[in-house]
Amino acid sequence: MQVTGKVVVVTGGANGIGKALCEVFHQAGAAKVVVADMEAAGARAVAATVNGAAFKCDVAQEKDIAHVIYETERQFGPIELFCSNAGIGGGFDPLSVNAGGSSDEPWQRSWAIHVMAHVYAARHLVPRMKARGGGYFLNTISAAGLLSQVGSPAYSTTKHAAVGFAENLAISHKAHNIRVSILCPQGVDTNMLRAIPKGPQSGDGDLSPEQVAKDALAGIAQETFLILPHAQVLGYMRKKTEDYDRWIGGMAKIQAKMREEFGK
Ligand SMILES: NC(=O)c1ccc[n+]([C@@H]2O[C@H](COP(=O)([O-])OP(=O)(O)OC[C@H]3O[C@@H](n4cnc5c(N)ncnc54)[C@H](O)[C@@H]3O)[C@@H](O)[C@H]2O)c1
Repeated sequence: MQVTGKVVVVTGGANGIGKALCEVFHQAGAAKVVVADMEAAGARAVAATVNGAAFKCDVAQEKDIAHVIYETERQFGPIELFCSNAGIGGGFDPLSVNAGGSSDEPWQRSWAIHVMAHVYAARHLVPRMKARGGGYFLNTISAAGLLSQVGSPAYSTTKHAAVGFAENLAISHKAHNIRVSILCPQGVDTNMLRAIPKGPQSGDGDLSPEQVAKDALAGIAQETFLILPHAQVLGYMRKKTEDYDRWIGGMAKIQAKMREEFGK
């Protein structure tokens, strides 16, 4: 799909990858770029640079996502591309004392933002897209949803669940001309990455958010399900499926190195 002339929504658009997505869609000639973020001032600032519109929105709240969808369509016309991009780090323990040890709160928050937000977007948009003959979802997930994020069980698990939902969304609605892409980078130089200690996510080098957004635009143009800004990830996925036990062993070695480094 070409984004030229299309109405596009980006959640988490005030910063990082989301901001870069807003910019790249604007440069590609989108009719309207809607920036939806918890940070209202940040959303307004980005919207101002892309001739867009801003909404304060907590993606963990279904009513907020519904409001963004209904208001965008009322004011600007049908949403042809909805990008569920908002995400949180958190719950990072490089020592991995107990993978199940943290309280429920970070798990529930990660589940709400990384998974249910994607479900809510589909819940409110799929009927509209079906009625008008199609649409597009771009879900920013992570290589952690395909492989794992050492030291972050809540992040890894909810990002895996996001991959599962996106696969099902694509399968369920291919016949309705609804396309889905998942954007799965490793390290990207944003506030989120800077907030956690340097680790294996940066092993192949951190990309700029602008590069990741360009790759997303190219992936949408080609309508490919899997968008991998770090090409190495495909090789890691193949290694994982070729020999799961060997792959777990390799990841456990990375964990051991992290324990050594952060336990000093
Ligand atoms: N930075 C990385 O290394 C990296 C790697 C792979 C995947 N990702 C994913 O990319 C996406 C964007 O992350 P980023 O690196 O640009 O982070 P970021 O922290 O720079 O930006 C995230 C944005 O999401 C917003 N946000 C957070 N919770 C929200 C909520 N409940 N409702 C609405 N907005 C909310 C924040 O206000 C912020 O503007 C996330 O889904 C993240 O998991 C990031």
